[in-house]
Amino acid sequence: LVALALLVVVCFLLGSIPWGVIISKSVFHTDIREHGSGNIGTTNAMRTMGKKGGVAVFVLDFGKGLLSGLIALFVLAAFIPGAGVAADSPVSASTVVALAFLCCTLGHIFSPWLKFKGGKGIAVAVGCLFVTFGVMGALLEIAVFAVVVAISRFVSAGSLAAAIVSPIFAAYYFLFQAFDPIAWVLCLVTALVVIWAHRGNIHRLATGTERRIGDKAKE
Ligand code: G3P
Repeated sequence: LVALALLVVVCFLLGSIPWGVIISKSVFHTDIREHGSGNIGTTNAMRTMGKKGGVAVFVLDFGKGLLSGLIALFVLAAFIPGAGVAADSPVSASTVVALAFLCCTLGHIFSPWLKFKGGKGIAVAVGCLFVTFGVMGALLEIAVFAVVVAISRFVSAGSLAAAIVSPIFAAYYFLFQAFDPIAWVLCLVTALVVIWAHRGNIHRLATGTERRIGDKAKE
């Protein structure tokens, strides 16, 4: 239990590091939150800081997600051997990984360093997905994102599509392959929080005011 509590705190704090703000302020001497959509993520970093800034923010945010999954694997190996396998194990391995995924995403979206306003969780989620769903599952998710973005030219539409299909993918893994409803609920909650973080985008998509790829940062 102590190990799980520590995992929750560490992954939340890891997720809360606002790389978009740090990079924009320290390297580009501006605040990403005052440009474009105001979001601190990769898409707005591309808009306001160009390719280099965008790639840097993506890699660092993706890294947070990946690292949180790896920390979960470490906690499993070090403190909860036999998770999900041993009869007396209190939690399954998938639950621990999905918990780390949720906490890292929550830290990113509700960053205490930004008065609990943060990003939208997509790059972080991609990093987590590689640990939660494995390479194939993560690539499938990325494919959904890429196809929708290519067709619509709205990054947010691709992000929303990926967030909507992720509980469906998770159901395949955690309800039909290995029965682990807690891991599935954790993935579902993560997806719902990511969708909620996109509420401004949903409103802009519905009213025809969302920025397409290539639209420069205004405001
Ligand atoms: O992942 C964020 C993306 O879906 C939308 O970003 O800056 O257009 O609100 P933005």
